[in-house]
This record gives sequence, structure tokens and C-alpha cells, in this order.
Amino acid sequence: MLNFKNKTAIVTGGGQGIGKAIVQAFSHHEANVVIAEKDEEAGKEVIEWLVSKGGNREAFHFVPCDVAKEEDVRRLIDETVEKFKRIDFLVNNAGLSNFKPFLELSVEEWDLVLNTNLRGAFLCSKFAAPYLKQTHKGSIINIASTRAIMSEPDSEAYAASKGGLVALTHAMAISLGPDVRVNAISPGWIEVRDWKKSSQRQKVQHSERDNGQHPVGRVGEPEDIGRAVVFLCSGEAGFVTGQNIVIDGGMTKKMIYEE
Ligand SMILES: NC(=O)c1ccc[n+]([C@@H]2O[C@H](COP(=O)([O-])OP(=O)(O)OC[C@H]3O[C@@H](n4cnc5c(N)ncnc54)[C@H](O)[C@@H]3O)[C@@H](O)[C@H]2O)c1
Repeated sequence: MLNFKNKTAIVTGGGQGIGKAIVQAFSHHEANVVIAEKDEEAGKEVIEWLVSKGGNREAFHFVPCDVAKEEDVRRLIDETVEKFKRIDFLVNNAGLSNFKPFLELSVEEWDLVLNTNLRGAFLCSKFAAPYLKQTHKGSIINIASTRAIMSEPDSEAYAASKGGLVALTHAMAISLGPDVRVNAISPGWIEVRDWKKSSQRQKVQHSERDNGQHPVGRVGEPEDIGRAVVFLCSGEAGFVTGQNIVIDGGMTKKMIYEE
């Protein structure tokens, strides 16, 4: 058990998917958790879910927030400090993708992906950093993607945003150290459909082919990422900063020759 009692974590996009599992992981280690979510239904639901599992309602706070908007992020930080008095951990998880042929991708569509995935992480980190520094053991985790380092066709905006996030990670690690460590996690294929808000949740069974193409023999789960986030935020990872940790069941290490 890690000791996060009286510590506060902000998780963006914490209402569904990987973010929800990250919120659960912090809660498991007794941290206070602020869920910064654009989807109000999802943000409120995740708190009820955690309370139904025995979580302390007072340890959670939902802030409706679009991470791409400076005024929303300023309010997120103000509300967090007002409620919990400190910020120890920030997880920049909110993200979206738009896989569309490159020649058809509009400037507005490019901007939406970049503004959510990259500008959002910049804004949250910038306004949280003074408080993270005060703790002298602050930690930022950026949720990037294996698509930062390899591609399928039609993924330019998403790949660029995640590549930017990996670069932002090592830049901030140098600027904010030694008080704040900054790391990225690059997930591979993580199945999130059964971690959506209840109105959109789906039970999913993966085929042998889906599972078998992963060297570990299965598709990833949001909890695989939640466990890594709390480890990287803990003192156990005190010598780790500026890194991009790939969690993909080994997929990016597999050499593929077409027959
Ligand atoms: N699922 C995967 O296989 C996978 C793989 C690699 C990386 N990722 C990354 O992990 C992160 C989480 O992905 P997921 O699969 O859980 O997605 P998801 O869509 O299930 O959840 C994302 C959450 O972020 C919220 N969100 C979106 N835009 C926001 C904004 N502007 N402000 C605040 N909240 C916002 C959404 O409402 C949603 O609840 C993303 O950054 C994604 O790029 C996911």
C-alpha cells in the first residue's frame, strides 16, 4: 500500500475509461481525488461508483472542465486548492482522437485534437505547477500513446499531439525539477468500453486473434495504467523523471514482416 493519505491528485478526463481507473487507483491508496471532466454525467457518476465501493465521499470532488480552455483550468486549480489545500499529483489524461484521411482533415479538426491533448496538458501543468512545487515531491503524469512513436494511416493530428506530449514531458522534467518529477505513460491498446459511463457502457469479449497479437497474450485494461500511474507518483519512483513508459503488452517490440 502506498501512502497517499492527505495527498491530492487531479485527474483530467477522470470520468470514464483510463482516467476512471486512475481515479480508482488513487482512491485505493487513500488520496483525495479531483475529477476534471468535460462530461458532467460521467464526472458525477464516477464519484457515486467509488462511494458505492466504500470510498469516502469527502475525498472526491468533481469539477466540470474543458482542459483546452484557460478559464476552466484556472477554476479547476482554484477549486482544488480551496477544497483540499494542496496539489501533489496531476494526471493529464483527457484526450480525444480523430482518425481521418490527412488530405480531408480540416484545420478546426486538427486544432480540436491538439488543443485537447497537448494545450490541455500545458495549461493544467502550468497552473498546477506552483502548488506541485510547494510539496517538494510533486508529480505530473502525461498520458501519451504508442502512436507517439509508430503509426497507422490517417492519424496525423493524434500522433502529433502525443509526440508533443512526450517532448513536453522531458522539457517540464528539466524545468520543474527537483521539486516536481514529470513522466509520460504511453498505453497501447487498452479496452475502455466497459469503463464508460453507464449509458454508454458495453461488455466486450476479445477474440483470440485480438488477444494473441499481444506478446503478453491479452488486450490491455484501464487498471494496467492506473497501477503504473500511482507507482510513478510514489516515492518508489523517486529516481524516475522525464521518461516515457510504454505499457502495451509488448506490441511495440514485435517485429512484423508481411508474408
Ligand atoms: N484506450 C486506449 O487504447 C488508449 C491508448 C493510448 C492512449 N490513450 C489515451 O488515454 C487517455 C484516455 O483515453 P480513453 O481511451 O480512456 O478515452 P475515453 O474517451 O474513454 O475517456 C476520455 C475522457 O476524457 C474526457 N475528455 C475529453 N476531452 C476533454 C476535455 N477537453 N476536457 C476534459 N475532459 C475531456 C471525456 O469526456 C472522457 O470521459 C487519452 O489521452 C487517450 O489518448 C488511450
